[in-house]
Amino acid sequence: MKILVVDDSKLNLVTAENQLKKIPSITQIFLCQESQNVESLIQEMQFDIILLDVVMPVLSGFDILKLIKSNAQYDDIPVIMFTSLSDEGSFEKCFNLGASDYITKPIIPIEFNARIKAAIENRAKSIKLKKMILDAQKQNNEFKEINLQLRSTQFHLVQSEKMAAIGQLAAGVAHEINNPIGFIGSNLEILSKYLNRISEYLLFIEKKQNELKSISNAECDRIINETMEKYNKLKIKYILDELSNIVSDSENGVERVKNIVQSLRVFARSADDDEKETYLLLDIINSVINISINEIKYVAKVKVDFDRELMVYCNKVQLGQVLINIIVNAAQAIKSQQNNTLGEISIGAYIKEEYLCIKIKDNGPGIPKDIISKIFEPFFTTKDVGQGTGLGLSVSYDIITKKHNGLIEVDSIVDNGTTFTIKLPTYISK
Ligand SMILES: Nc1ncnc2c1ncn2[C@@H]1O[C@H](COP(=O)(O)OP(=O)(O)OP(=O)(O)O)[C@@H](O)[C@H]1O
Ligand SMILES: [Mg+2]
Repeated sequence: MKILVVDDSKLNLVTAENQLKKIPSITQIFLCQESQNVESLIQEMQFDIILLDVVMPVLSGFDILKLIKSNAQYDDIPVIMFTSLSDEGSFEKCFNLGASDYITKPIIPIEFNARIKAAIENRAKSIKLKKMILDAQKQNNEFKEINLQLRSTQFHLVQSEKMAAIGQLAAGVAHEINNPIGFIGSNLEILSKYLNRISEYLLFIEKKQNELKSISNAECDRIINETMEKYNKLKIKYILDELSNIVSDSENGVERVKNIVQSLRVFARSADDDEKETYLLLDIINSVINISINEIKYVAKVKVDFDRELMVYCNKVQLGQVLINIIVNAAQAIKSQQNNTLGEISIGAYIKEEYLCIKIKDNGPGIPKDIISKIFEPFFTTKDVGQGTGLGLSVSYDIITKKHNGLIEVDSIVDNGTTFTIKLPTYISK
């Protein structure tokens, strides 16, 4: 323990030193006779205890005590007043200013030893406590750090799981649909050919009936009339017209399903694959609309309006994922308004400065000001439990900013709608 004794009397200093030397736990004793030097001494050395005279020229013990207790760097050093004063007022002042104890002069060895030892014990305890607090703080910071790391790992795990699940789902659905749609398509083709033949045959019959009419034979007339009647009764002409409509509608449907399967296949690739290429933006947007059509069609019309030639350099699966998240959010927001009329989601794109900007605008309920800063946070959702994981936009943010060096911005007016803008750098676009 390092102790500093401050007193303007040399005799007092020496007497105190002699007493202190007898206490084994005191390893260093510093004596100071000039009160004006105390502050610099304290700043320089790390004292454990200060023994401080009260009445001194230049700076009094009160002044020095005030100085010590007002500086957070050393205000915890216990100060024992070393005094020959005996009036109560001075004692009260010392304690009010933060003194820990007092020792009277001239020194009474038993009192001196007891008070110094008590101060040493207190100091040792407070040093131990301080160390414990520091250790606890350090541990707390480490826990905080670990917690942050855990959250981030959890986020990335859920994110990649979600992406992988979408990829797997897309691959599975595409595969399952592809086979039946294949044979439905070829059956329709055969059906259409057969229908043509049946039509041709019926026309042939009609022609032959006309030929028979000209022969003018009562028996022939009867047979012709009967077949005509049957033809009319069974509405064969109507059925033939309808059948060809049905076949062409079905072919149309098969074509659409094929497009969806094609779009699903785009997403059936691994989400870990960060590969980027240049694509026609319209192709990606069409695939995305095809896939999310079920979420959208009953709540909103989708308007796509931009230069068809616009190209985008991106990872197709990842950008598709972002667009689906934003479009599905827009559809869900419009749906939450429970209006009877269809809402509108419009998708625009243009080049501005060094960015390709994709804007997705909806006329839904908008996002209140107090939550707009939170929507990109992982797990933030306003949807009911089980309806939203709150990951859609945080995953999108990660994909656009980290994986594509781009920006994602939101602009919203309550009761008016929301616009998300994705900005992808064009300097890598070809
Ligand atoms: N177009 C929008 N209009 C209004 N609110 C929106 C819109 N897009 C996002 N939000 C708000 O942002 C929140 C976070 O969206 P995010 O896509 O991250 O999660 P989620 O849709 O709730 O769940 P998840 O997408 O994981 O199923 C939503 O819960 C919603 O409150
Ligand atoms: Mg969402």
